[in-house]
Amino acid sequence: MVTKSLVLYSSVTGNTEKVAKRIAKVLKGKGHDVALVRVDEKTDIDLLAYDLVFLGSAVHQWLPTKMLMNYVKRMLKRYFRSGVIVPSSPIRPGKHAVCFCTYSGPHTGLSEAVPATGWMRAFLEHVGFIVLEEWHTVGEFKNSEENSTIGRWGNIKGRPNEHDLAEIEGRAIGILNALKLCKDDP
Ligand SMILES: Cc1cc2nc3c(=O)[nH]c(=O)nc-3n(C[C@H](O)[C@H](O)[C@H](O)COP(=O)(O)O)c2cc1C
Repeated sequence: MVTKSLVLYSSVTGNTEKVAKRIAKVLKGKGHDVALVRVDEKTDIDLLAYDLVFLGSAVHQWLPTKMLMNYVKRMLKRYFRSGVIVPSSPIRPGKHAVCFCTYSGPHTGLSEAVPATGWMRAFLEHVGFIVLEEWHTVGEFKNSEENSTIGRWGNIKGRPNEHDLAEIEGRAIGILNALKLCKDDP
């Protein structure tokens, strides 16, 4: 079965974009229909047009970027007005999502990233998506030597590196397997 999937992300210095591109590559490689979109001021994509959504962002002050949050706020308004979001947020069978972020964790590590994916998750669940996982990938803090070398993760220059991206690839395949969407598998 070919799934209509979307990888929608916000990235300022390119780290989250690397992760987004790797997810899209995996989906495409498994024969799925994939839209890879970087959020901008005008993005108004209806997530419900897709069966599998990967929503990702860089972490800024423990949350997604303003660009990503503004997109979500635009869509929330629209979904409330059109009756998509209703009390109890009924689950929409067949609508699955994963939230992902890249972060540097310079001060307190992973705890700086968890609120960002939690925020995106809350939005997706309001719309009725079944959120399967939240992924947090370490990324170099570009233009900040200190934050890239003496934070909680130590030296994170060059990350996400090939090892990080291979992990993302494995997890993306895992999601397709969980949803029985790997068409070349028995
Ligand atoms: C303005 C700004 C704020 C940031 N705030 C945080 C933060 O609160 N916690 C964190 O772990 N990383 C923080 N970072 C680091 C980024 O989340 C990290 O480098 C990320 O991988 C960047 O992704 P991008 O290259 O896709 O923009 C911040 C970076 C910038 C530029």
